[in-house]
Amino acid sequence: MRHSRATEVSTVKKLVSPDQQGKIAGLAVVVMAAGLGKRMRSKQAKVLHPVSGQPMVLYSVGLGLRVAGDRVAVVVGYQADLVRQVIGRATSGKSGDFPVAIVEQREQLGTGHAVLQSRPLFAVGKRGAPSRYLILNGDTPLLQEKTVRELLRVHEAERATVTILTAVLEDASGYGRVVRANSAERGVSRIVEDRDANAEVQAIREINVGTYVVDGEFLFSALEKLDPSNAQGEYYLTEIVHLAEHSGRPVAAVVLDNPDEGLGVNTRRQLAEAEQVVRQQIRDRWLDAGVTMIDPASTWIDAAVTIGRDTVLYPNVTLEGTTVIGEDCVLRSSTRLTDCTVGNGVEILDHCVLADSHIEDGAHLGPFAHLRPGVVVRKKAKVGNFVEMKKTDLGEGSKANHLSYLGDTKIGKGVNIGAGTITCNYDGVRKFQTVIGDGVFLGSDTQLIAPVTVGAGAIVAAGTTVTEDVPADALVIGRVPQVNRPGWAARRRALQVGVNRETLNVKPKTKSTGLTPHVSRLTKKRPLVSKGRQVEKRTRG
Ligand code: UD1
Ligand code: MG
Repeated sequence: MRHSRATEVSTVKKLVSPDQQGKIAGLAVVVMAAGLGKRMRSKQAKVLHPVSGQPMVLYSVGLGLRVAGDRVAVVVGYQADLVRQVIGRATSGKSGDFPVAIVEQREQLGTGHAVLQSRPLFAVGKRGAPSRYLILNGDTPLLQEKTVRELLRVHEAERATVTILTAVLEDASGYGRVVRANSAERGVSRIVEDRDANAEVQAIREINVGTYVVDGEFLFSALEKLDPSNAQGEYYLTEIVHLAEHSGRPVAAVVLDNPDEGLGVNTRRQLAEAEQVVRQQIRDRWLDAGVTMIDPASTWIDAAVTIGRDTVLYPNVTLEGTTVIGEDCVLRSSTRLTDCTVGNGVEILDHCVLADSHIEDGAHLGPFAHLRPGVVVRKKAKVGNFVEMKKTDLGEGSKANHLSYLGDTKIGKGVNIGAGTITCNYDGVRKFQTVIGDGVFLGSDTQLIAPVTVGAGAIVAAGTTVTEDVPADALVIGRVPQVNRPGWAARRRALQVGVNRETLNVKPKTKSTGLTPHVSRLTKKRPLVSKGRQVEKRTRG
């Protein structure tokens, strides 16, 4: 990074660095997140669009919390309630404390107007007014903490009033351009928005990233002086640079080494670009932390996911939301986990879909298992092919290996769930519970009409429909008794052969019906009733 002198998300834990270190005294952060984001062409506020599964605004909020502790304000406006909720969910601690202050900008009159709305929050209280402010756009998810710390360091070192972050781009269109003085020092004199720029300014490739450090004493007095006579009729925050420079106050600038970090997401294309970069950063982080990915490019890991060492991810694995994976797990291809916790040494074979479920150590799932919310698979339990589960607790060492639906069910330890077992948990109106005790053996094709309890150690014979509670250690059989008719099948076959011979000798007299001769004959012989109807119709006609 270069600098030049001028007069130049899930939880708090997820968004704040684990050590809670490095909070800068006297610093407050303002995140601007009130805009609609017209260029996204979306019904949803731009800052709520997710990047790697995390709403964009949470990247700036998380960064703010890491550098300034609880002195973070977010300016909301468009879809204010939704933005507030998203921030609340991601940042409020167990005790319900809410380290982020929300302030509303009722009309979106520009970035300068947005920051001005936060003034009452920082009015002198017992903590005193902040000595400086870090101001962040809510649409720069690639910005790194170390860059912001460097910006703050330069601000101090240069004793600047305003310090801005800039980047030099191949294509600077759309961004505010950084206009520097013609003097040898080339200090920043002002920022000119793309829509206000003449051809000469448009040719400038150094852009304003939208990250500012501003002295506490200067900020709000400068914001009061903003003038909206520009192409967009807005109060531009960027104008404070010119106001500082014009009044002889020092303005400093830090130029990004990696200009990608300064990407501002205004369009869907930029959103896709940000997604690619963040995905790669996340993969690199987990590869460095000891996770194996057979094909990193096809492995999708959301920002808040955590993965233990020596876990192996096969191609096309997707880990979403707040999923936590333990150590020594194997996740085979095309498996997707959303908001799940997985213990150590778990194997999940191909094509499984799991949501909001908890898998304990040594369990084995798939292929083709579907776990809907509220499932617990206990230690060393097995869930096999084409098994769907919902709100079900499968006990330690129990197995549901084939073709089953288990919903609203509590299953004990060492239970065998036979192939094709179905819990009939829904009567069309309400859902009911099934309880299966330890050591129960359910034969194949068992149906359990809930509410029902099968006592520990009971055996349910294959094909049984269990309608009443089964006592412990009992055998239950509920199926139609078998009837054997000796020789019946052979006689039927013989009869069939006779019919076929007879029909083969019959030549069709009329045009072919397209049916084989004997079938066509059988059809002709058929329903007298409809023939009668036809006759009746003819008679009537
Ligand atoms: C802004 C900068 C531009 C810079 C670019 C970097 C201004 C005037 N321009 O332009 O110099 O190059 O970011 O990405 O600041 N917002 C509000 N209230 C408003 C308007 C916007 O809270 O009234 C919020 C938005 O939600 C967004 C942020 O401010 O998070 C930036 O707004 P945006 O419209 O994206 O500004 P840009 O045109 O990108
Ligand atoms: Mg923007």
